[in-house]
Amino acid sequence: MVTVSDADTTLPDGVQRRTFEGKESLATRGEPVYGEPTDGSWRAWDPHRSKLAATIESGLDTGLAADDTVLYLGAANGTTVGHVADFAGRTYAVEFAPRPVRDLLDVCETRPRLFPLLKDAREPATYAHVVESNVDAVVQDVATRGQAAVAARNAQFLADDGRLVLAIKARSEDVAREPQAVFEDVRAELRETFEILAETRLEPFHDDHLALVARPR
Ligand SMILES: C[S@@+](CC[C@H](N)C(=O)[O-])C[C@H]1O[C@@H](n2cnc3c(N)ncnc32)[C@H](O)[C@@H]1O
Repeated sequence: MVTVSDADTTLPDGVQRRTFEGKESLATRGEPVYGEPTDGSWRAWDPHRSKLAATIESGLDTGLAADDTVLYLGAANGTTVGHVADFAGRTYAVEFAPRPVRDLLDVCETRPRLFPLLKDAREPATYAHVVESNVDAVVQDVATRGQAAVAARNAQFLADDGRLVLAIKARSEDVAREPQAVFEDVRAELRETFEILAETRLEPFHDDHLALVARPR
């Protein structure tokens, strides 16, 4: 396993480091979504608002590549999945709360390859008829109890050489336990289905979060 802490990372085509208002930031090309700074067709991708951007900023090689087919779990109002759809191929965005999905629909409006699904990620059978098999990446940020179980249930969609890019929020599993102990349990559960390739903590962007990259066993 590789733990990376510097910012030396491989960015997918379609993701760049650019300067906005004098400050360097990750950026993708697409219609603005959340009032983020823009420069022509580029828009800043804020690691404080996106666990995936924080993962990339933390130096982890996510394995994500331009035109990848992506299943995104925990899309919320589309902040991060909008950036993903800016550089990826077909992107399926699963979110079970109706309110954020209304905003997500606006993000989809200008992104023809982004498909919103008002579904529960714990019940992949309810969207298996829509999401193709052999996706290149499952990106997960559900911040709810049972995060490893959600990943395991959705492993069925991944290609053999596909990648799971997972953000784990310790407090969603157990507010009272030490994050390190929570992460150890999550790793053990994940290893039943995945081989963990790399991981990083997401401080200073997100407290008590762990990001992992894994592949199916
Ligand atoms: C931390 S927020 C996600 C933020 C989003 N990934 C972003 O960066 O733009 C977690 C989201 O996961 C959703 N969620 C939690 N459990 C879920 C489940 N079982 N199925 C689908 N969505 C779920 C929540 O409703 C919430 O919107």
